[in-house]
Amino acid sequence: MAQKTQKGKIMAHTVQPSQHATSRRSFLRTGLAVGGAGAIGAALLVNGVPTLAGASGGLTPGDAAILRFLSAAEILETDFWQQYNELGGIQDSEVPGGSGSAAYTAALKVLDGDMDQYIHDNTEDEFTHFTFINAYLVSKGADPVNLDTFRTLPSSKATGAQQIGRLTNLMQLTVDTSYWTKYRSRTKNPDFGDTFPPAVPGLLKGQFPAIPRDDTDLSPADHIQAIANTAGFHFAFIEQGGTSLYPSLAQRVTHPEVLRILLSIGPTETMHFQTWQDKAGNAPPLTDPTNGLVFPDLNAPPFGGEDFQTNLIMPEPTVFLSRKFPPVSIIRPTQTQGAAMGALKALTDDGLFRGQSDEFFAVLHDLAEAADAARHGG
Ligand SMILES: [Fe+2]
Ligand SMILES: [Fe+2]
Repeated sequence: MAQKTQKGKIMAHTVQPSQHATSRRSFLRTGLAVGGAGAIGAALLVNGVPTLAGASGGLTPGDAAILRFLSAAEILETDFWQQYNELGGIQDSEVPGGSGSAAYTAALKVLDGDMDQYIHDNTEDEFTHFTFINAYLVSKGADPVNLDTFRTLPSSKATGAQQIGRLTNLMQLTVDTSYWTKYRSRTKNPDFGDTFPPAVPGLLKGQFPAIPRDDTDLSPADHIQAIANTAGFHFAFIEQGGTSLYPSLAQRVTHPEVLRILLSIGPTETMHFQTWQDKAGNAPPLTDPTNGLVFPDLNAPPFGGEDFQTNLIMPEPTVFLSRKFPPVSIIRPTQTQGAAMGALKALTDDGLFRGQSDEFFAVLHDLAEAADAARHGG
């Protein structure tokens, strides 16, 4: 009953004369301001898109939902890439904010002398991804996504980081490095239900920082190197997710132009993944003296071979669609059912959202659910 009352209140907001994005965002906040109403507010916001889009003659409800989920994902990506860039990238007018951490930047450069440039460029790419998708949504009369109300998580206290509210948490990650063996397997594919062992098992058995939490994390040397190694493997984890997400969702868009957007942004995630997977292979084997986290030598027993060898950075051909076909070099997974919710679960399991509010999860859940409900031609 209370929910019904709240729903009525929210719906009253939706019939206000202005359909401008700002008023819709404040409507979202109104929904969130009342305890437990977050999911309702978000659902109505998502459901509100089709009406607006229809009025523009542009987007189908499904296309709008897919673009909105992708926009949210890109906003989240941008948020944590900015945190990486502030401490370990290049701070400039293209990617402003922060002033760098010399010790962290040096540890990242052990993986590749150009790590700071790559971090900078990946950060800029993510910023353009959500900015473009939001602008496209607006051009079709649909709502852009804005998660500013959830910028509540703390920044690193290390010298070089901005002190602002964050959407994501890079200081308690549980990184799944099974992408490493997934792309090196010649016989398995997650679309067939196959599972894969992690390259760095320790990263799945705890919560580890991928950026220095404060300046005490800058030493001893193997500790800050372990943090940089964690970042190196995390970069590839994130970008392999985007590599699968775009082709998975592309199968359910309707308009050719929306398909073009997904087919044009998605492969840039793959370019990122390819780069990061190569660099992660350069992470020096070590044990973090502060917490025992082990980065194994992936080229030596019991690792090594086709499943782990660090210079096998092109995807091994594997089974696709049916085992009756010959193996083929492909992105994996690309199964479309539940792809958005799967991506949200992977990011949540990664620990990126540790400390976030119930409302945050409710909004993301609703965005993912709406995207997964989209059907080609629907
Ligand atoms: Fe992106
Ligand atoms: Fe990305």
